[in-house]
Order: sequence, then structure tokens, then C-alpha cells
Amino acid sequence: MSGERPAVRQAGRLAGRLVALGVTGSIAAYKAVELLRLLTAEGADVVVLLSPSATRFVGPLSFAALSRHPVETEVMDLLPDGRIGHIVIADSADAVVVAPATAHFLGAMANGMAGDVITAACLATSAPVVVAPAMDGDMWTHPATQANVARLRDAFGYSIVAPASGPLASGQSGVGRLAELPAIVDAIVAAVAASPVRQPDPAARPPLAAATPREADLTGRHVVVTAGGTREPIDPVRFIGNRSTGRMGVAIAEAALDRGAAVTIVAADVSVPLPEDRARVARVETTAELRDVLLDALFEGAAPAGEARFDALVMAAAVADFTPTHPSARKLTRGEDLTLELQPTPDLLAEVARLCRGLDAEGAAAHPPVRPAPVLVGFAAETGSLDRAAAKLRAKRVDLLVANDVTEAGSGFGTDTNRVMILDAAGGRDELPLLSKREVADRLLDRVAAALDERDTAAQTARMQEAQR
Ligand SMILES: Cc1cc2nc3c(=O)[nH]c(=O)nc-3n(C[C@H](O)[C@H](O)[C@H](O)COP(=O)(O)O)c2cc1C
Repeated sequence: MSGERPAVRQAGRLAGRLVALGVTGSIAAYKAVELLRLLTAEGADVVVLLSPSATRFVGPLSFAALSRHPVETEVMDLLPDGRIGHIVIADSADAVVVAPATAHFLGAMANGMAGDVITAACLATSAPVVVAPAMDGDMWTHPATQANVARLRDAFGYSIVAPASGPLASGQSGVGRLAELPAIVDAIVAAVAASPVRQPDPAARPPLAAATPREADLTGRHVVVTAGGTREPIDPVRFIGNRSTGRMGVAIAEAALDRGAAVTIVAADVSVPLPEDRARVARVETTAELRDVLLDALFEGAAPAGEARFDALVMAAAVADFTPTHPSARKLTRGEDLTLELQPTPDLLAEVARLCRGLDAEGAAAHPPVRPAPVLVGFAAETGSLDRAAAKLRAKRVDLLVANDVTEAGSGFGTDTNRVMILDAAGGRDELPLLSKREVADRLLDRVAAALDERDTAAQTARMQEAQR
């Protein structure tokens, strides 16, 4: 299967460390791209900050692509989730390295001036700071520069990786060249050596870059996605609803479409546009309607045995667990005493899983299972601990369960990001960092596509073995 796999980090001297790399407006700024590569080769997760001058020398694209984090360039810009980028970096980095560091940076920093993302992050961090200056020889030897360097080293405790001697951009020769990159890497390793590798909360770290496009690895697959929140009528104008906007489900549907799948969306109440031109869309309101439409989409009215009409089902809709037992046919008026009697709704995910696996309500074999076995994915919105998720996965007999804590900042309803844990039937748990919903969708579909490939390979092998008998 193609597409992105969870990153396998090489063990290195910076494994488990988050290094913030600040790049300022020096002619040597291009060398920072190679420095970033060396740091990631040592196992570091690197997030890059560029001063506005540095962006005149090197664009953020290479840094973003290599670091897999958005690059911070503007001190006044907020992250998409509203957090302040340079503070997030300052708080979560294990080390900050400024390489190359201009004379201007040294002066601003020595005086505590936080006019750009790099000086602001350095001021706000309690992590060790490594500074590798690079400049013209006369700029380096100027008393102002030397005084600033001395202050950073002696008063602030920064590690200074002194510039080397050699040809300079001016055409002259002298001291001012950026130090050799391995020496800068060694200084960072030394700076963090005393502190233990932390396990910081992924949600507190800088966000990852936007999703990388996947190949069309779901071509020929039929993926059914439920999205949005159901509404259970109390009377003709009122309902019991929930906060789901449908963003996660729609992100999954769009990702599946982009990967070549034929997609059916069963949409309850959604507040985002649906890809109606590319997908088959059925709209529903209540959980009961969702059940009818879903069973029809999955089994097309036929008995749920025999050949599967879909390859994967992702139940991302937030369905009501309770519905009013006796919804009023007329609008309830003020002044009436009102006690709502609620009854539980059917557990759709468990029901579909049971039908696909050929089981009756008691879990006993009732009819042949649907073949080839579709991949069934459930979502579990929890508040607080995700401990119940594994039990839910087993109880509902699904292949994958995506659990998230909807009370966590940046996670759950109405946000563009989500932090989820994907559990599988084999007991595996994949705790993803805070990601865009599109990236969560693609990571989930990586698993779905892999499971479908495995399923087909196993079936192929079984057929070949059967033929050889
Ligand atoms: C072509 C060019 C090369 C430069 N190289 C350096 C350099 O190597 N070191 C330095 O201190 N300043 C250098 N400067 C000047 C800085 O870019 C300038 O002082 C800028 O304000 C630095 O801003 P920053 O520290 O916020 O990135 C260079 C300027 C130009 C036009």
C-alpha cells in the first residue's frame, strides 16, 4: 500500500527531542536546510522559525516539507487552533537553536527585544538555547557584537558556537563563517544531555504540517461514511441534538474520494458543505432514519448475507443514544409541565457489525457472514478518559475504533483539528498527535486501505491453496 505510514524515528542522539530551529537573515541561511536534515537524522522532531529577513533568503516550503511542521514566520500570527505559535514552541521545545544568527539577532536578544518569532521564542523558553552566529568579519569583531555575544553567553547561559574563519560573502576572508554544521549538532546534543527525554502532551506541541497527498489506493472500493449529528424530535419545532458539525465525517469522505473510492455519505445534520458532486449523498434527520438509510445503503434491501456491497463503513456520525418516546404532534406551549420520557435508540454500529458477521442479537451464528468482510470503523466521543474505548471496540465487534476526548482543546466538535487514538481489534493503539481533521482522515484511511489489501491478499492466497489441493 502507498501513502504515509506513522513515522518511524531513527534512534539518534536527539531521539524524542523537539528542537526549535531559528533561522535569521544571513547569507548562510540556506545552510539551515541541511542543519534541519542532520537534526532529523539524529532523531529530533524539528520545528522551524524564520525571521522576516530570513524569508528573503530561504522560503518556508523546504523547511515545512522536511520538518513536517508549519513554519513560524510572523510573531503576530496565531496557529489555526488559536494558540500563539512562538509560545507553544517555547513551552514544548527541548532546545532552541538559532543558526545562522545575525548581528541584529544578537543585539535584539541581548536587550530582550522580542520583535520577531525567534527572539520572542527565546525570551519565552526555559529550554537551553544554542546560538551559531554568522556575519561579515568586521561585524563579528565590532565591540557591540562582542558585547552582545558575551551577554548571551555569560548572563543568559546560552551556548555559543563560534563562527569559523574562511572566505566570507563580502569576498573578504576572516572570522564570521557559520560554524560547521556537525559542531552545531554536537552543541545541541550537549545542551540537552542533562535533561531527561520528556513525554510531553502531543496536544501541547506545535501542529503538524497539512496532510500529504496520498495515492489512489482506494480505487475500486466502496466506502460508506456517516456524518453529522442526528436530531430526535420533541415536537414539530424542537429536537434533542448534539454538537456534531459533520467536519470529521466529511473530511473522511473527501479523503476517500481523493484516494479513488466510490463514496456514499449518510448525512445527518451537518454545518459544512458536502461533496455532493462526487459522492452519493443521503440526508437523514433522526437516528431511526439513519438506521433505515444506512442498512439500505449497505445491504440494498437484501438480506445481509452473501456478497458485500461495500468495502468499508466509517461511522463518524454522532447519533443520539436516546429519543423521546412520545414526540408531540403539536408544538408544546409554555406553561405546560413537561417531563420528557426517553427511550434508548438502537446501537447502529453494533447492529451493522453483527449483521456483517452473520450473528443474531445474542451473538450466535445466524446466517453466513458478508464476504469479503468489510472493514468496520466506529468513533467514540468520550469526555475525559479514553479507558472505555477498548471495551467498546470489543462490544461492537468493529475492526477499528477512533476515540477522542471531545473536551480537550482543539479536539472534537466544531474544530478543524482532532487528537485521536485509533484502536484495532488486535489490541493495537495508535495515539496520534493533534492533527488537522483531514490528516486524521488520511491516517485512518491508511489503516483501512491496508486492512483491505491484507483482506484481499489473504483471500487470494486461500483461493490459490484451494486450487492446488
Ligand atoms: C545579501 C545579504 C547578506 C547578509 N548576510 C548577513 C549575515 O551573514 N550576517 C548578518 O548578521 N547580517 C547579514 N545581513 C544583514 C541582515 O539581513 C540584516 O541585519 C537583517 O536586519 C537581519 O534581520 P534578522 O536578524 O531579524 O534576521 C545580510 C544582508 C544582505 C542583504
